[in-house]
Amino acid sequence: MGQPIDTVAVIGAGVMGHGIAQAALMAGLQVRLCDAQEAALNNGVARIQESLDKLLAKHKIAQETYDHCRRALIATTDMGEAVAGAQMVFEAVPEVLEIKQAVFRKLDELTDERTILASNTSNMSISAIASSTRHPHRVLGVHFFNPVVLMKLVEVIKGEQTSEDVMQTAYDLCLRMNKTPVRVEKDAPSFIVNRINAPVRVYLGAVVDAGVAGPEEIDALLKSAGDPMGHFELSDFIGLDTVHSSMLYRAEALHPEYGPFRELEKRVKEGNLGRKTGRGFYDWTQGKPEIDLAKKTDKISVDDIKYIKYNEALKLIEEGVASSKDIDLAMVLGTGDKVGPVEACKDADASVIAARLTEIAETYRKSILSPSASLLGK
Ligand SMILES: NC(=O)c1ccc[n+]([C@@H]2O[C@H](COP(=O)([O-])OP(=O)(O)OC[C@H]3O[C@@H](n4cnc5c(N)ncnc54)[C@H](O)[C@@H]3O)[C@@H](O)[C@H]2O)c1
Repeated sequence: MGQPIDTVAVIGAGVMGHGIAQAALMAGLQVRLCDAQEAALNNGVARIQESLDKLLAKHKIAQETYDHCRRALIATTDMGEAVAGAQMVFEAVPEVLEIKQAVFRKLDELTDERTILASNTSNMSISAIASSTRHPHRVLGVHFFNPVVLMKLVEVIKGEQTSEDVMQTAYDLCLRMNKTPVRVEKDAPSFIVNRINAPVRVYLGAVVDAGVAGPEEIDALLKSAGDPMGHFELSDFIGLDTVHSSMLYRAEALHPEYGPFRELEKRVKEGNLGRKTGRGFYDWTQGKPEIDLAKKTDKISVDDIKYIKYNEALKLIEEGVASSKDIDLAMVLGTGDKVGPVEACKDADASVIAARLTEIAETYRKSILSPSASLLGK
């Protein structure tokens, strides 16, 4: 290991893969972009080209960088051709364990032991993905955020057997790609950002299911407090099928209470998946929904959400998943929160937070929202 990286391959040319390829090109690397579907590959290349044209027109990249990006991209549907000569491979195929394992099995055959294999999974166990290879020490998670070219954050995740050398090489490459990497030291489901947001999703879903407040009333509260998007508006934007499957994954990997809430299940069953189908929690047929801030609920408080995020952050620190500094950095860069969850509660009284979390956990019968050991002073 430790070989200098000048060529990378990206497997999957969809939403994330084309963005990772573009960020790598802009960092001066040679890039091989691969997709199983010719149409998806062509679409990925067209999106890169369109984005580069815009960046050049706005003087956000130099002519030299633009010319390099055009010259240094090879697109292919042949995985063997894509990985030949690459020192690192980024996998960005759909979030289905069997698909990812099949890709890694093939990568294991096609590359030599020194090639680093990175998965862009949002939630899944890196160790489970690595188990389909003969050399799991060279497999890690490198989790970019959408849109890749704009979002600075990358979570660099250590699987059970990932070597330190592989972690460091990937971390350094992210820096070269003009990103801010944070280390995730332990392979815990959903890593940092998605994991800290997970109990918030559970709580707000339970509030809606109980009829205490509706999605628009909750979103009006959050937007009034300065969030750029409401929670349910963002779920619609991501796609309710995606939200649903990541909740199912956490229900299996972490605790059944992380599973989908009734109002989400209902919409997914109806095929109302949010923005992409025109309807979800909101009607998107006329464009972005107008959220009436006057409807904001007084049945819950923004402090509840602050406490829930802090609580989950403490659990990650207790489990040794990441440091408080990296958690705060990841949440600020990955979600647009103005301060991280630890910083946000640094002057709050732990007993007040613990009491409120206990009340919420009991009201909605969600033990996962109960205060962490460190909040209880254990
Ligand atoms: N979309 C997001 O906002 C986001 C953010 C962070 C991480 N992720 C993660 O990134 C990964 C990719 O997500 P996406 O949104 O880019 O998905 P996508 O559906 O847009 O793209 C996936 C691409 O993989 C291709 N593909 C499928 N099987 C393949 C194979 N065997 N070989 C080569 N190509 C294959 C598909 O044709 C498709 O073009 C997932 O693990 C997802 O969880 C997504």
